[in-house]
Amino acid sequence: MPADLPPIDKAKFVAAKRAVAFIEGGMRVGLGTGSTAAWMVRCLGERVRNEGLKITGVPTSSRTAALAREEGIEVVTLDQARWLDLTIDGTDEFDADLNLIKGGGGALLQEKIVATASDQMIVIADAAKEVAHLGAFPLPIEVIGFGWQTSKALVEEMLVSLDVLGREITLRMNGDRPYITDEGNHILDLHLGRIGNARQLALALNQVPGVVENGLFIDICDRVIIGHGDGQVETRDINTGAVERERIEFAETDNLFTDLGE
Ligand code: 5RP
Repeated sequence: MPADLPPIDKAKFVAAKRAVAFIEGGMRVGLGTGSTAAWMVRCLGERVRNEGLKITGVPTSSRTAALAREEGIEVVTLDQARWLDLTIDGTDEFDADLNLIKGGGGALLQEKIVATASDQMIVIADAAKEVAHLGAFPLPIEVIGFGWQTSKALVEEMLVSLDVLGREITLRMNGDRPYITDEGNHILDLHLGRIGNARQLALALNQVPGVVENGLFIDICDRVIIGHGDGQVETRDINTGAVERERIEFAETDNLFTDLGE
């Protein structure tokens, strides 16, 4: 690993490296999206090549699918795999109950379907992703293109009666055009500041016509692995309450990280 790699990237790397140690031969594994998940795919690729680990991966985006194939990981669709042993993904925020905001990378729909089709979900994150209350990170929702402005207005109206601090909603852009998801939809980012009742909000959002899915992951994540720039990793298991701390050394052979464009 290059010595000059920023601490944030070292933190993501050690979380990713610890997470792939949970993968065993024969598993069907959901592969998340984003910069932290991309490091996990690289670490998994290393295990496939070096140890001959035999696993099947189900990517949560076209970006992750391309990277996994480059890494020599066998990729299948969720419909082929049907049910998964484990999904490993990043997050934009997590709270003490391991509820999450996801979708900063625009892949929340496939990510949620894949994670809920898994026996276990492990989230990998740097320490900055931990929050006391969800909502500082804008909450993404995926909406279909038809009538998206009406869906936006309906969500705005609904938010008035819910326990949130802010109500600004922006259409995610890609340059001067709307961002388009792998499913051909748009993303609205909800600038809520603080979410009082994430469970209630998640249910309410999915009732709005045109909303396909929201980025709140409630009761889906089983473990979080938090990486630090000095190699420390903390693993928290929400089901058992167990907390483990260890340190991962950066080895010369960990030089996996060319620019992934994430
Ligand atoms: C993509 C996601 C990502 O997991 C989330 O945005 C975190 O990304 P990163 O690891 O790059 O910070 O939900 O839709």
